[in-house]
Amino acid sequence: MKKVLTDMLICPACLPDEYKLKEEVVKEIGEDILTGSLTCPQCKNIYAIQDGIAFLDPASKQGKVKSISRYESRPLLSSYLWSHYADLLHEENASTAYREWSKLLQSNSGVAVDAGSAVGRFTFEMSQKNDFVIGIDNSLSFIRAARELMTKRRMTISLYQEGNLTRETVFNLPETWNTNKVEFIVGDALALPFKSDTISSLASLNMIDKLPVPINHLKEMNRIAKEKNAQFLFSDPFSWSAEVADEKDWLGGKTSGLYTGRGKKNIIDMLQGKNNELPPEWRIEKQGHVWWKIRTHSNHFEQIKSCYIKAER
Ligand SMILES: C[S@@+](CC[C@H](N)C(=O)[O-])C[C@H]1O[C@@H](n2cnc3c(N)ncnc32)[C@H](O)[C@@H]1O
Repeated sequence: MKKVLTDMLICPACLPDEYKLKEEVVKEIGEDILTGSLTCPQCKNIYAIQDGIAFLDPASKQGKVKSISRYESRPLLSSYLWSHYADLLHEENASTAYREWSKLLQSNSGVAVDAGSAVGRFTFEMSQKNDFVIGIDNSLSFIRAARELMTKRRMTISLYQEGNLTRETVFNLPETWNTNKVEFIVGDALALPFKSDTISSLASLNMIDKLPVPINHLKEMNRIAKEKNAQFLFSDPFSWSAEVADEKDWLGGKTSGLYTGRGKKNIIDMLQGKNNELPPEWRIEKQGHVWWKIRTHSNHFEQIKSCYIKAER
């Protein structure tokens, strides 16, 4: 974990109170802490740093690293690496989604957060527009892969062909991507380990419908966003599922209870100040959709219409 993060991190278990974490370094190389810990002065939780990865998920308590994500299997890692980097692999069916989302962001000074960063593509895209970007995800295998790309700038990946047959392929990060401006941490999008009113650019792509209490994620993004001079890129296919969240907690896709009708409209209304849920209010600058693609194996691709909202305040 790059040392510059130590000034930004707070204890996610103590929220809504904010306590700065105290670092202990056991092993470091230059500005990178490879082994160590971050301790909360209030609740005394110890968050481990292992192999350069900081575990800021409130579930990873007392230095014990707990793998809690369902996004941990090898096939899923392969699918997401393809989804994020197929254009760099010169794959025939590569998606242009991340470049399209990136064009929606303005250059902005300050720190950016890519929530649910997976294997890191959009975090790298954001680094071209911001001073520093943190990708945060609760999948250890995704964050490990993203960090490997950040440190080695090169990766060999196994793409599934059919059944257990795979094909190895190698790619390099473009020289223009400055990996000194990027870090990836394990953490929870529902309890972000960042101070309030500090983040200039925020992204939440294709995650809200994967969370057990989606509104809490929007509230967390709103809490850490600067009250002025902030931009927020949100995008999602709104694939609500009772396996992930109780229907009462969906932000759309239902006819009764809170948040009836379409999720995109409900989120726009909230950003614009409805019920004062996400204050201070945001202006909607653009909305539309991007076709996002996931590859399972050589004969199976999913094309997903991800509806975006670009807001600023
Ligand atoms: C559908 S993927 C989208 C990934 C990426 N944003 C993109 O658009 O390519 C959802 C991501 O959210 C992450 N995720 C799910 N629940 C999370 C949580 N509570 N906190 C942080 N990340 C979470 C998953 O590990 C996964 O990387």
